[in-house]
This record gives sequence, C-alpha cells and structure tokens, in this order.
Amino acid sequence: MIRVNDLHKEYHVVKKGQGLSGAVKGLFKSEKLTVNAVNGLNFHINEGEIVGFIGPNGSGKSTTIKMMTGILTPTSGEVLINGQNITKHRKEAVRDIGVVFGQRTQLNWDLRLEESFELLRHIYRIDKKQYSETLEVMDEILGIGEILSKPVRQMSLGQRMKGDLAASMLHSPKVLFLDEPTIGLDVGTKYSLRKFIKEINRLRKTTVILTTHDLGDIQQLCERIIIINSGVIMEDGNLSEIVERIAPYRTLKVEFYDSDIPKHERAELISEDNNVACYKFFKSELTAAELIRDLSGEKAIKDISIEEAGIDDIIRIAYGIKNVE
Ligand SMILES: Nc1ncnc2c1ncn2[C@@H]1O[C@H](COP(=O)(O)OP(=O)(O)O)[C@@H](O)[C@H]1O
Ligand SMILES: [Mg+2]
Repeated sequence: MIRVNDLHKEYHVVKKGQGLSGAVKGLFKSEKLTVNAVNGLNFHINEGEIVGFIGPNGSGKSTTIKMMTGILTPTSGEVLINGQNITKHRKEAVRDIGVVFGQRTQLNWDLRLEESFELLRHIYRIDKKQYSETLEVMDEILGIGEILSKPVRQMSLGQRMKGDLAASMLHSPKVLFLDEPTIGLDVGTKYSLRKFIKEINRLRKTTVILTTHDLGDIQQLCERIIIINSGVIMEDGNLSEIVERIAPYRTLKVEFYDSDIPKHERAELISEDNNVACYKFFKSELTAAELIRDLSGEKAIKDISIEEAGIDDIIRIAYGIKNVE
C-alpha cells in the first residue's frame, strides 16, 4: 500500500545573528544552514495496518508525513502510494489518501460544517450515495449529526477535530495520515478518535499512519510502531516484540507492613520508599509468582502490583541508543 524508498529531506535555512547587533550584521552577512530533517527512510506498510509513527520533537515525523501526502517534495527518494509515485502523480494519488493535522484544520472557518463537507464532495466528485453513507457512518462513530449545522468558527477544538476526521473520510481514502491528532483534546474526544480509527480500520480496511505523543493511543491502536530520531529509523516492528526484545523485564511493586525491605538475589531493588519497594526482574530469570513467594517468605506482604515494561520504556531506550552514538 505504501512504500518509502531512501527518503531524504533537507531544509535550507538562513540563520541570522542574535540580538540587535546580530540583526545589523545580518544585513551584511547571513549564514546558510542545511537541516537534514529526514535521512534515508525505508519502510513498507501493508493494507489495513495501523502504524504508530513516533519520535521526539524535531525528529522528522511531520516532514515525513508531508512527503508521504505530497505536500512536500523529497530532496531525494520516493514515496509510492498504491504503486503510484506521490510526487509525480499527485493528482491521482491524493484520491487514495486522507490527512488530518492536529494543529491545522482543512475545514473552512466561515462555513457551516455541512457546507464544508459539500465543498469537499464537489472537489472530489464524490457520488451522493457514497457521500451520505459515509456521513451516516461518521455520525454513528463520532456523533457529528449534531454539529453539522454549526459554523466551524464556533466549534470547540474537540468538535472541530471530529469535523476534520469526518471530512478526511468523505472520499473514502485507502490510507489515512493523522499527525498529532490528540494534542489538546479532552478525554471524551480522545476516546471518540480512538474509536474512529478502530472502526474505519475494521469497516473499510483503511490503513492508518498515526503520529502521537500519547502512549495510550499507541498501546490501544497500533500493533506496529516505527520509532524515528534525527530523521533515521531506530525501530520498526511489532510493538510487543519490540517491548519483549528491548525491555524484557517487569517491575513488582510491594507494600510491606514496615520499612525493613528484603532483598532478592535475582531481582533488582530499584526503589524504596518507607514500606513500599519496587523490584525489577527479567522474565527469563524469574517469574512474578516465584518473586512474590520468596519475598512473602521473608516478610509479610500487604499489597502488590505488577507492571509490564511500558512503551515509555521502549521510547526511552530507543532514544537512549541514539544518545550513545
Ligand atoms: N519549514 C522548515 N524549514 C526549516 N526547517 C524545518 C522546517 N520544518 C521542519 N524543520 C526542521 O526539520 C526537523 C524535523 O521537523 P519535523 O518534521 O517537524 O519534526 P517532528 O514532526 O518529528 O517534530 C526539525 O529540526 C525542524 O526544526
Ligand atoms: Mg510534528
């Protein structure tokens, strides 16, 4: 469905000096800088996948999405959507894709939502039947029926996001790109967004590429993640396999009756706070049951909880690998 081959993007920026003297100097001499935002990405995404595209700020996620959707032209390399080069055949290829940017709306501020939708219906030449079917599905998932007659300008961020999501699906794209859609959303709209992604993927087999800083989104939605840093892929694969490989440990949190905390030879005591201790242990060396049995043999236990290594650990470690270089 999507193929990205050796994709690069350089931005050329002019750097001005700092402060007043810098501004004056800037009149005479400006320094030209090249920013290598994307540095040779290669990946392939199949139909029906939901892929979490994650990385720290400035790692090149938005630049990559803009190149994948034909908004930016790559410095080198190519993006094929359904076999078509997005740069060379933009007109044809854009029919297969939808895109939503969390920080920017594609809706018209001056129109009511339904008028914005009608406009898109004409632009994409969507037939009436398909259009009303999609609207019906979008109303079921997002409840947009009640905001259709509302001017976009008067909408809350959550309502506008629902409008944007529905708008992106009107032409029934095969692939949907979502760049930081959850930023600033309330809990209810976040829930609707997740439901929306699950439902379009289930009902229409829509392929979804999602960038987000919300680890809950990733855990709930994405089987596969691609982690990028400095425009380079750090990890690409099945989320649980990556967790298993990079962070094959768990932590056990134990509350004892007093602050005399026992040690264990195969588990690392990573924190102690009065009666509460956290032990980190590797799944291959020790089971949670063994650890609990051993500890309770030494001291009476009041309460316990087990935590899997989270995706936050994965991200930290993946970034850490980069920092070591
Ligand atoms: N229009 C631009 N001009 C110059 N540099 C840019 C531009 N857009 C992004 N960059 C730079 O490219 C890098 C990647 O940015 P971006 O793709 O927005 O990252 P992300 O979405 O992961 O936060 C950053 O160093 C950013 O400052
Ligand atoms: Mg971004």
